[in-house]
Amino acid sequence: MAAAQVHMCQTIFPAHTNYRGELGAGQLLKWIDTTACLAAEKHAGMPCVTASVDDIQFEETARVGQIISINAKVNRAFTTSMEVGVKVTLQDHLTTFQKLICVAFSTYVAKPVHNGKVDLKPVEFVTAQDFLEHTLAAERRKIRLDHERVCKNLVEECGMNSEQFCNQEEGAISTDLTHVQSTELVLPPHANHQGNTFGGQIMAWMETVAVISASRLCRLHPTLKSVDMFKFRGPSTVGDRLVFNAIVNNTFQKSIEVGVRVEAFNCEEWAKGQARHINSAFLIFNAVNEHGELITVPRVKSITKDGLRRYHGAIARKKIRLARKYILLKQEDNCTVDFWDRGNQADKIKSNVTALTVLAAKPGWEMISTSLDCLYSLCSSLKLNGHSNLNPSLRKAKWIGVDRHIPNPASSHWPAKKIKMFTLEETDALSVKVEMQVRISSELAFSLLSDFRHHVQWAKHYSTCKVIQNVTGEDKIYHITSISINGNKPDDFLILVSQRKPCKTGDPYIIAVRSVALTSVPPSENYCRREIQCAGFLIYPDGNSSFVSYCIQGTPGVMPYVAATLDGSSKSIEDTASGCIRFLELQSSTMDCI
Ligand code: COA
Ligand code: ADP
Repeated sequence: MAAAQVHMCQTIFPAHTNYRGELGAGQLLKWIDTTACLAAEKHAGMPCVTASVDDIQFEETARVGQIISINAKVNRAFTTSMEVGVKVTLQDHLTTFQKLICVAFSTYVAKPVHNGKVDLKPVEFVTAQDFLEHTLAAERRKIRLDHERVCKNLVEECGMNSEQFCNQEEGAISTDLTHVQSTELVLPPHANHQGNTFGGQIMAWMETVAVISASRLCRLHPTLKSVDMFKFRGPSTVGDRLVFNAIVNNTFQKSIEVGVRVEAFNCEEWAKGQARHINSAFLIFNAVNEHGELITVPRVKSITKDGLRRYHGAIARKKIRLARKYILLKQEDNCTVDFWDRGNQADKIKSNVTALTVLAAKPGWEMISTSLDCLYSLCSSLKLNGHSNLNPSLRKAKWIGVDRHIPNPASSHWPAKKIKMFTLEETDALSVKVEMQVRISSELAFSLLSDFRHHVQWAKHYSTCKVIQNVTGEDKIYHITSISINGNKPDDFLILVSQRKPCKTGDPYIIAVRSVALTSVPPSENYCRREIQCAGFLIYPDGNSSFVSYCIQGTPGVMPYVAATLDGSSKSIEDTASGCIRFLELQSSTMDCI
């Protein structure tokens, strides 16, 4: 039985859009749920209900007149439930070019008409992609079923000093100002043929109240960036009154988390005030100013016990999202590196530098002051590598809201701490950036960092490094061997390093890195060949000091060793960055002495 699939195409009309003429996220959630439900029912051969929708990240928006395509496929049937994967793309009908809007994973439970339970037939996989999705579906299921417990544990871990932490925030806005309540009566158009309220309709209503709540904080029209799991705890039917309560739980630099709780009442329950809790979800928004730039949102504070609990709940959910992404991406190893030949060298060199510049300038980098150990401990807490205890570093971890996206070392906001870490979440990547303040001239930092043979002195995970090819004066290919990150074979990398001096004042020195393949250095059985799609340093002068930023794109192929590249698996990123700073400053003082 090949996987059941359903396709839906929609032209975006004004009625589907918000005030900016962009497709409303609520409408999109309705279409996603309908398409996915139809795929589930095609597999099950009977009505199905939405049990949950995993995290969704919205990458692109569609506008009036554009066409979107929604493809849903059953990835795996478990016992009575099945996972449906949904991919939404935007089609440009003039160019046939497609852009990804989002990917979603929903779980549906088969509901036979006589109300019992039914065991679903398995989904057979035909292609390698089917097989991969089938495998990943099991991992995602573990994570989603454990989500509530992990989140609760993490809130308890993080919330120890909650009161002090919240009250320290100066100028923070009270979350009370963002409270929104709204009531809806479920009518036949909102329900399926069995009278059950459509999951998509409930999600759309939730999005509506969440938008209002977020706009009360940022005083702009917010855009839905991602959703942290919709869980449908119980059914609702035609005639129910649904009460939606929303409030901002916390903010992170450029994003706002709004929580929404949905309670249902039938006519009798309504009179008695007996609520059925049917859904809770957490929606993450950002907002852009009139120039289209993401704004830094105000910090929030809450004085109620529930508010403080939710404040820490939002931090825990953010960490879980990152950990979840790390776990799932590291299993999708589909990065392939092109061979380095005469015909493509110029393009490769150019795209190496461009890719790093684009990655560093992407909007949406959010600062964390914790190391990637946090992700490892979360993997452990999600019980995916056999450990169950949280790493103690997690207890110390705090998230700080400071806007440091565009580096300006001269600004008064220069961080007191020398090392800052950031993450950038995208649908298919989790990138990491480390910013360091170093007492060394930028020219010297550039010269020391661009020769990767020096890295052996400070990057603990490097074993050897040698130049394989001097392509131009500014571009070299290195072969690097590294310690093992998982106790098995050591790793090796074949990388193109492109170094560029600034073209004009204010530009950074650039050292871009990407993997290449060479017939003369094929992967060997002694090493596990690792691939880097985009990484490197940007160095900004700051008087006699420098501001050094290191970025690495955690694409699927890179994910297993993003952390290891930076921290040698068991060491924190800060340790490696400190090693780098010490090395650079020592070289600088030695030069001064000479
Ligand atoms: N996410 C994913 N799957 C979930 C889930 C969740 N949050 N909660 C339960 N499930 C799965 C279970 O793993 C189980 O799957 P399996 O049989 O393949 O192992 C299946 O759902 C049934 O779980 P069970 O514990 O026996 O049932 P339940 O009594 O908890 O009911 C629902 C689960 C989803 C049927 C029930 O909560 C419900 O009716 N929710 C409302 C559905 C709805 O109205 N949706 C919106 C309108 S369509
Ligand atoms: P929790 O309170 O643990 O987060 P709930 O399911 O009770 O879980 O609520 C989910 C979210 O809905 C909350 O985090 C909060 O943002 C919002 N919420 C819940 N109750 C209210 C309420 N009475 N008023 C405003 N918002 C609420």
